[in-house]
Amino acid sequence: MEKHLEILTDKSSVIARALDLVTAKIKATLEVKDNFFLALAGGNTPKPLYEAIANNPLPWSKIQVFWGDERYVSPDDPQSNQKMAREVWLNKVNFPEANIYPMPTNSQAPALDAQKYETTLREAFGLTAGEIPVFDLILLGMGDDGHTASLFPKTAALTVSDRLITVGDKDGQPRLTFTFPLINAAKCVMFLVTGANKQSALSQIFAPEAEGMLYPSRLIQPQGELWWLLDEEAGANLKQEREKYGYLS
Ligand code: 6PG
Repeated sequence: MEKHLEILTDKSSVIARALDLVTAKIKATLEVKDNFFLALAGGNTPKPLYEAIANNPLPWSKIQVFWGDERYVSPDDPQSNQKMAREVWLNKVNFPEANIYPMPTNSQAPALDAQKYETTLREAFGLTAGEIPVFDLILLGMGDDGHTASLFPKTAALTVSDRLITVGDKDGQPRLTFTFPLINAAKCVMFLVTGANKQSALSQIFAPEAEGMLYPSRLIQPQGELWWLLDEEAGANLKQEREKYGYLS
């Protein structure tokens, strides 16, 4: 695993750096394969990145977009991660609907919808049962409790190792989420984390020892590249980590 830890001046610098990295990755990957498989993060942090991507001419027909997690609400609910990405990016460009794979949240049975999305994933990647899809890039955020996607501390979703998609639990509210095996199979995972409220969890995540069940983002250890793009506020305590952990860039 190749690890990158970059601490940038402010949130807009994080977004600008992420845009450069994401667009470069898409272009480089599409030189050697026909499709770029991308999983989007939810929450607030990535919204300006998606807005910025929409202003970049990219070969939309060669990009396949999925979500790494989804609140269990309808697609028109203000809480929906799908709604956010569509409004600021996917609806603003000529993005083929066939390339957009939202997590289903309409069967009133989250576990059933999780299974459906697992099937969708395997079909989209052309895989048979048992094979794990390898995303070209998975974007992630991190909560101030150290969760990522909808893998929340001390929840059952953290222990799921035999499925790609499972049901997350945020204070009793169901969510659909990628599991650790799916995230960790990716060629590249990129965290975008900003704000002073994330400092404490980041200190635990980069600490030599800490409990993964309490700080789930610690357990993101992808096969390929792991990028942490932080602003100064979030990364205030981590400047000395770069040498200690052999982080590049
Ligand atoms: C979600 C996200 C979640 C998010 C973190 C950080 O559906 O909310 O997938 O994991 O990335 O909670 O959220 P912010 O970017 O809003 O701080």
